[in-house]
Amino acid sequence: MMRTRPLKVALLGCGVVGSEVARIMTTHADDLAQRIGAPVELAGVAVRRPSKVREGIPADLVTTDATALVKRGDIDVVVEVIGGIEPARTLITTAFEHGASVVSANKALLAQDGAALHAAAEEHGRDLYYEAAVAGAIPLIRPLRESLAGDKVNRVLGIVNGTTNFILDKMDSTGAGYQEALDEATALGYAEADPTADVEGFDAAAKAAILAGIAFHTRVRLDDVYREGMTEVTAADFRSAKEMGCTIKLLAICERAADGGSVTARVHPAMIPLSHPLASVRGAYNAVFVESDAAGQLMFYGPGAGGSPTASAVLGDLVAVCRNRLNGATGPGESAYAALPVSPMGEVVTRYHISLDVADKPGVLAQVATVFAEHGVSIDTVRQQGKDGEASLVVVTHRASDASLSGTVEALRKLDTVRGVASIMRVEGE
Ligand code: HSE
Repeated sequence: MMRTRPLKVALLGCGVVGSEVARIMTTHADDLAQRIGAPVELAGVAVRRPSKVREGIPADLVTTDATALVKRGDIDVVVEVIGGIEPARTLITTAFEHGASVVSANKALLAQDGAALHAAAEEHGRDLYYEAAVAGAIPLIRPLRESLAGDKVNRVLGIVNGTTNFILDKMDSTGAGYQEALDEATALGYAEADPTADVEGFDAAAKAAILAGIAFHTRVRLDDVYREGMTEVTAADFRSAKEMGCTIKLLAICERAADGGSVTARVHPAMIPLSHPLASVRGAYNAVFVESDAAGQLMFYGPGAGGSPTASAVLGDLVAVCRNRLNGATGPGESAYAALPVSPMGEVVTRYHISLDVADKPGVLAQVATVFAEHGVSIDTVRQQGKDGEASLVVVTHRASDASLSGTVEALRKLDTVRGVASIMRVEGE
């Protein structure tokens, strides 16, 4: 039966995502009411610039005082789409203190302070939902938190940043260098004027922390995530990848160790075989590949950013939180009971593609091979191309720890016959 008294929603932020949330709330109001069992009413919209014209949003709902809005006491759900750490963190905790549940799209805040926010939600008996924080429209948080709650997830391997996937895809398909591809991404609006958060992997690392925490029922913070950006990937790396039947993607990789006693989370560019489903994720799309004991391999794919796709995820959370509210219940909160240690990058085990510039003379290959052997890194293939007394040597290893590989590279750099280490790239997804 439909309740007539509406559930009141406060919207914090009315940018690209917030304005779409407001639009869908208005245009789909009847459907949302039917699905929830009560109408939902936009009770206030907190913005920074009140003079800006916002189509479809009555001027009397707009305020610059977000704190007063979340403190009103009659708000059922606060939707936070302003991003960043402060004032978002204080506004969310204030919302819980004043009886509201929260839907957030704030990956940076969740990755840094997720545990404290979940604790605040639990203390006040409210919900904290954040499907939109990772990979935009793609249902990922709820599948991991609910659909796979009875399974054991071993690995999450994802392309969770659309800007960098657009750039890498462009480099792959046209042979362009990084800067040229970035310029095109900027011109087309895929990259921001300051692309640092995307190209240096900060955005993906925040998402990796959130995914790892949920997948492994363990607290994983942003600081636990190893991070390398993709600004040093070159056209030559793509040529090498092609020779191996691979492409290069910026991957977020969350793994349970083989013995199950620890987990790792990392973001870096990596070669993946063209046969892997993630290799065919083109343009600015996102995709996440999940491996679990019982389900096996699952892939989630779709638009990972943008106003409308992100609003879709926010609205899904809003419906879920409103339903819980009407039932006098809350959904699943934080599950961190496993409390597995998060191992450092040195303990990650994977394969490596190393490209060296060396002198082309007798004994060099043996010298290089000895360094690998001394560090316990087993070589899978070696390819050499020589020219005028110099050569390029490409070594692909079997699985080895990152610490062993780092030791190997350090020792290689000290050899007189090694002119330089042109590139080191991990090989994943095999
Ligand atoms: N800037 C991100 C991306 C979207 O390019 O995927 C928001 O996380």
